[in-house]
Amino acid sequence: MKEKLLEITSLSKHFGGNAAVSNVSFDVEEEMILGLIGPNGSGKTTLFNCITGYYPLSSGSVRFIGRDITGMKPDKACRLGMVRTWQRVKPLGSLSVLENVMIGAFAKTRSPVRSRNIALERLEMLGMGGLGPKAAGKLPIGLKKKLELARALATGPKLLLLDEICGGLNYSETQELLETIRGIRENGTAIVFIEHDMKAVTGLCDRIVVLKSGEKLAEGLPSEITSNPAVIAAYLGAGYGHA
Ligand SMILES: Nc1ncnc2c1ncn2[C@@H]1O[C@H](COP(=O)(O)OP(=O)(O)OP(=O)(O)O)[C@@H](O)[C@H]1O
Ligand SMILES: [Mg+2]
Repeated sequence: MKEKLLEITSLSKHFGGNAAVSNVSFDVEEEMILGLIGPNGSGKTTLFNCITGYYPLSSGSVRFIGRDITGMKPDKACRLGMVRTWQRVKPLGSLSVLENVMIGAFAKTRSPVRSRNIALERLEMLGMGGLGPKAAGKLPIGLKKKLELARALATGPKLLLLDEICGGLNYSETQELLETIRGIRENGTAIVFIEHDMKAVTGLCDRIVVLKSGEKLAEGLPSEITSNPAVIAAYLGAGYGHA
């Protein structure tokens, strides 16, 4: 049986009177790809911010590799093996592509030589091998997204949280990236995948959690989620699957 890697229990996050996330619980097992879907503003990114330590929780807990990491700062969680990408990509624009990825690698090593080698390897893996010297700020959005992924992978994660990594990519870029993500999982990294593109979600994910207005509306296999009347009413739309 697969071990639980991440255990979210009754997690809530309020901003004043706005309950952005309410009493959400789910687990992620080793080597699983879990989809996290829901309408705009349903709390997906806020949940990532809480899990990875960018926001303090209002209540609830986060366990990772059997440890209570509730309230742990992002850099420490990263050193334990949990890293996220940002919906709005944030490269250090004046640094080179290679330097941006080296920053990720420095989470695990102090050696500049080792960090450079890790960064070069990750860039190669993402088909960005020739772009190392280029200024990160000059990249088009598709490559900025891949740079974001390369930097996260350079930290050597056990769990990777991807927030709309396919957003802004065209069809063939998306297909290529989904293949890369499958490869990342094959190499033993579990993934939580936020995405609005349902074809990408159902084709990639083992299980799906659906949020609506901050609450967990449903959880199950892709086939269960896409045929769930409450999910169709809240998010997918009545024509889903019949287009
Ligand atoms: N820092 C913040 N301060 C106040 N309210 C916030 C903050 N961050 C998020 N919210 C609110 O929390 C709710 C959930 O937002 P969140 O960004 O998590 O949604 P989302 O599911 O990621 O949406 P999208 O699909 O558009 O990315 C929204 O009502 C949003 O306005
Ligand atoms: Mg979001």
